[in-house]
Amino acid sequence: MRSLAIRHRGNEIRTGAAVAEIPAAGRVFPTRREERADKMIGTRMQAALNGQITQELYASQVYLSMCAHFEGEGLPGFAHWMRAQAEEEREHALRIFDFVNDREGQVSLEAIDAPPSGFGSPLEVFEEALGHERKVSGMIGDLYRLAMDEADYPAQVMLQWFVNEQVEEEKTISDIVDRLRLAGDDKSALLMLETELGQRTGDPETGPAG
Ligand code: FEO
Repeated sequence: MRSLAIRHRGNEIRTGAAVAEIPAAGRVFPTRREERADKMIGTRMQAALNGQITQELYASQVYLSMCAHFEGEGLPGFAHWMRAQAEEEREHALRIFDFVNDREGQVSLEAIDAPPSGFGSPLEVFEEALGHERKVSGMIGDLYRLAMDEADYPAQVMLQWFVNEQVEEEKTISDIVDRLRLAGDDKSALLMLETELGQRTGDPETGPAG
């Protein structure tokens, strides 16, 4: 047994406490989050939220691919809207990323699938975007159900923001689809909408808004 030396204001103090009697912090209270049994987020919720981070980053890639398509088509207004949407999806991913960390969980990033490419007309692109958002709404619903099953109230509150956001996103894109259908082959109506979407600006809370 040896005494424990502690430095206090430059002076070394020796105590009678045996070093061997002090449990290693790592064994009593692991600091690595994936090893901690006492963390504030459940294993299933953590895994599901990590999966959603991947989905939001994938959505960002999808919109960036749509942006590239419109740039190539010489439609900078639609391209600008898609770029802003890609940024917003990244913000969504980071919102969940921060939540997992705040709840003492372990964020683990996964591979992101390649986004689609080779899109069609503006109407087809926005229809595809709407279909994508409806899928995401289903995912958020699944996460909310899990948060209820696990009685994870903080996750429920966090996910309520996403439930509202999905309503807004579906409505915004659905409105654009309606207007593109109305425009049909009328190029001046199409260019008017293109110019309008090119004026999309950021929102202080959610990032770029629709
Ligand atoms: Fe993050 Fe558009 O869903």
